[in-house]
Amino acid sequence: MSTSFRLSGPLTLRGSVRLPGDKSLGHRYLLVSALARGRTLLGNPGSGEDLRATLRLVESLGVRVECREGEWLIESPGWRKLKAPRAPIDCGNSGTTARLGCGLLAGLGLPAELLGDASLSRRPMERVITPLRRMGARIQSTDGCLPLRLEGGSLQGMTYRLPVESAQLKSALLLAGLFASGETTILEQGGSRDHTERLLGLQLEAQESGRAWQVQASTLEGLLDRWPRELSLPGDPSSAMFLVSAALMHENSQLELQDLLLNPGRLHTLQLLRQAGAGLEWELRQTVLGEPRGRLRLRGGGDWILPDLRAADLPLLLDEVPALAALALQRGQRWQVEGAGELRIKESDRIAEILRVARAFGVEGQEGPEGFRLSGGPLRPPGEIQAGADHRIAGMLWALSCGLPESPHIHGREVLGVSFPELPQLLRSLGSRK
Ligand code: S3P
Repeated sequence: MSTSFRLSGPLTLRGSVRLPGDKSLGHRYLLVSALARGRTLLGNPGSGEDLRATLRLVESLGVRVECREGEWLIESPGWRKLKAPRAPIDCGNSGTTARLGCGLLAGLGLPAELLGDASLSRRPMERVITPLRRMGARIQSTDGCLPLRLEGGSLQGMTYRLPVESAQLKSALLLAGLFASGETTILEQGGSRDHTERLLGLQLEAQESGRAWQVQASTLEGLLDRWPRELSLPGDPSSAMFLVSAALMHENSQLELQDLLLNPGRLHTLQLLRQAGAGLEWELRQTVLGEPRGRLRLRGGGDWILPDLRAADLPLLLDEVPALAALALQRGQRWQVEGAGELRIKESDRIAEILRVARAFGVEGQEGPEGFRLSGGPLRPPGEIQAGADHRIAGMLWALSCGLPESPHIHGREVLGVSFPELPQLLRSLGSRK
């Protein structure tokens, strides 16, 4: 059933909250919990559907998961006793489940089939299939997309230079490499999210041509030896960006986000905003499994300009472009994004979707294969608009609505369920019309 929703703004956001757990960490912690024999209690998993897809994947291998209020209890027989799934695994909308899951299943040598929804079934998987085949994996796919059939077998380590800056690809290969014979070395030019490297405790080997990451069987042993039996997920900084954007739209906003993931690679958006003059500060409180976390404080308003985004910025803030676009639109400014071709193959073609939203609000835009430009100017909000099939575009619409006196009816609220179903309620509880 499709639901429509409307915020009566403009909304000032005030208060202090802890956001649902980071999605990238959630997938990884679930996968490792499935490898570690015994019980792991995972706190703050949130209620996003993406993480449920990884939960289905681990359950299909024989891991038991009890979902309690605000925490999941995971009980695994240990990686040596995981079983081949009896039915295809439905990865839903989750690219991280499909790609990391493919790497892990290939490493475990378990036959399995991976499926996804219509959007995930259009996204490229050959970037993972090609290098995994080089390691010896037998993987069938008709057109380099889901469904994929893994046929089992053992892997050999390899040295591989990533052809695209993708954390999902890098992580899939590092996970596969944990079970391969010999060493697996992954070379990357720039840098994408480094959660898997931090989790595995990898040492950075800086090379002239970029960075090198190496794993082998002992990396897995070390990880399982130090695996904590109880851990909780810090708040998701990509989800936070919708609140941050919405709050920055009003002078009177004052927001505090507690226990937020402060991984330096995930702070790029906040750093750009702070450098531009936005009232943001954060403070590190602790580091858990190599991941810094702490508190973010924000004051709204201010006379600053959202900087254009360059190719070098993109791998570190790809998921946050829709939230930033909401801010650019609300501020009525011209805004340009370059080197963002990967946006076209996310859960939707996000370049086309951002321009669809801009045009619906009366703002012109131009697009190229790898980027776009918004021409700025006053907003003329429509009476209603479709959220579409992409959760981050839906989040963009919610954030933008907080900045408007008359917000449109947003149809299709349920797509937010992929990552951040809590967003409308949070905006309502933190927001007031002062
Ligand atoms: C993710 C990596 C990023 C990001 C995605 C989650 C991850 O994708 O956009 O939402 O958890 O590894 P890339 O593989 O394009 O870096």
